[in-house]
Amino acid sequence: MNDWKTQIDKNRVPSHVAVIMDGNGRWAKAQGLPRINGHFQGVETVRRVTEACSEIGVKYLTLYAFSTENWNRPKDEVDALMSLMVSSLKAELPTFLNNNIRLKAIGNLSSLPVECKEELDETMAATSHLNGLTLILALSYSSTWEIKNAIQQIALKVKQGVLEVEDIDDQVVDSNLNTAEFPHPELMIRTSGEVRISNFLLWQLAYAELYFTETMWPDFSKEDFYQAIVNYQNRERRFGKTSEQIDAP
Ligand code: IPE
Ligand code: IPE
Ligand code: MG
Repeated sequence: MNDWKTQIDKNRVPSHVAVIMDGNGRWAKAQGLPRINGHFQGVETVRRVTEACSEIGVKYLTLYAFSTENWNRPKDEVDALMSLMVSSLKAELPTFLNNNIRLKAIGNLSSLPVECKEELDETMAATSHLNGLTLILALSYSSTWEIKNAIQQIALKVKQGVLEVEDIDDQVVDSNLNTAEFPHPELMIRTSGEVRISNFLLWQLAYAELYFTETMWPDFSKEDFYQAIVNYQNRERRFGKTSEQIDAP
């Protein structure tokens, strides 16, 4: 087995990694289990990847846990996912406290069931003073929803006369997104072999490196995560410039 962790350049660890945790249902189906078993197993992967981030010094980890579109799944599965969210938040609080992890959330949080929203609010409040890894859950989240809201807020400020149209720049847009207080992700990982963004952080991923793996989320290991980091570190991020410009001292 490759030891990917030792190959990581500690000085060039991405500060923000975003993950589309996909493949729970197919993982369960492949073993003849109900889809929800895949989601249960997926929580274990969340724990592993969170730990891996803390170990190598990633400062922000955004996990796509439930999309706006996921509300269209069968009610049984939606209900099970919401109660899994509540039980996992309860169970993980000691881990967050012991490991200096601050919990945050983005998305249409007011659309969550009340127990889920309350548990989330409590966990965020209990960890708000911590300054290790910031774990950001995207819940009832979609990027088009987020961008539409930002446009409305910006338009309202223009209408009220507190913002000039010509002053709308990238920074103004950023500050009206749910992610205003976080840097943009440098790396986005999606598991399960699907090669799409599925309405995740469209603005914020504008220049992220994208990494796709066939591995289903419940099987995604720490070493798989480290492999993604090494892959990211081996890329040349040019931001529109030429290789020669990047190589110049
Ligand atoms: C990702 O796994 C978790 C959520 C979307 C909540 P899926 O449930 O999408 O699993 P597949 O893609 O059907 O295998
Ligand atoms: C994206 O996965 C959403 C989450 C991981 C929470 P989906 O499985 O819902 O996405 P699609 O439907 O394959 O695009
Ligand atoms: Mg899926």
